[in-house]
Amino acid sequence: MIIIDNLNDMQKELKQHKQKSIGYVPTMGFLHEGHLSLIKESVKENDLTVLSIFVNPLQFGPNEDFETYPRDPKHDETLAEKYGVDIIFMPTTEVMYPKKLTFSIEVTQKADILCGKSRPGHFDGVVTVLLKLFNIIQPSNAYFGMKDAQQLAIVHAFVEEFNLPVNIKGLATVREPSGLAKSSRNVYLSEDEKDSAVSLIESLTYGAELIKSNKYNVNEILEQVKSKFSEKNNTSFEYLELLSYPDLEKVTKIKSTVILAIAVKYKQARLIDNLIIDKNGNILTEFN
Ligand code: PAJ
Repeated sequence: MIIIDNLNDMQKELKQHKQKSIGYVPTMGFLHEGHLSLIKESVKENDLTVLSIFVNPLQFGPNEDFETYPRDPKHDETLAEKYGVDIIFMPTTEVMYPKKLTFSIEVTQKADILCGKSRPGHFDGVVTVLLKLFNIIQPSNAYFGMKDAQQLAIVHAFVEEFNLPVNIKGLATVREPSGLAKSSRNVYLSEDEKDSAVSLIESLTYGAELIKSNKYNVNEILEQVKSKFSEKNNTSFEYLELLSYPDLEKVTKIKSTVILAIAVKYKQARLIDNLIIDKNGNILTEFN
């Protein structure tokens, strides 16, 4: 495995692998089993796997946790090597953004709801860094987690609308044995918060059962999911929504695939979770 921190070396290295299929896993590091599942799939499906680790300042708001975002590059390197990564691209902010940008990319749909509502400009920052990273790495396949389902939907649309030559693969959310979705930010949770955070997935799964029963309309489902969540939890949630997926539009009836998504703010961490559910109430485990 080699570690590269600049554009020149990256270009030189990739020149030697022109004929190979490249799998790419973009991350902000502090790797956990969620990231590792993406790496595993990439290693399985491609000749070469590139992992990027870059905490992208452009996607953090002024009052967000850019400075304190957890970082542990040495541990990440050990894990990446163990799981078969060939190249880690770990640029500095100066390498990615050497000067003020002349252009901006604005996500004009799917971005003012769910996480985008409380994080204005977040997805603009995500697609900007991804466009740069896709151009630098030129992957055949890029792997994303369904944990960040809104990000996945926006990346799908981005690649399609701008004809970017990369296949986007969306993989299932990896969870703790309790059901809590793995997240780099889980380190900020107290033990009590960790216990109560299990009600995120419990209430979403309950929602999927209600969809399966085919007896309730969208409002009734949301009300029941809300009370299920509140049984174990007195934290108020930032959002709880049931939308079409991947269009992320309001629905009154469940006629096609939907997303049931929740965001909760704990003392030091904001947690998100979701299920993507087909019209029959079955939970999807991949979205390509
Ligand atoms: P980061 O939060 O590090 O996540 C990197 C990838 O890991 C994303 O595709 C995310 O959906 C996936 N992931 C996170 N937790 C997961 C889990 N529990 N199960 C499965 N996959 C999981 O998302 C970003 O970084 C950034 O926005 C990035 C795309 C790198 C752009 O800066």
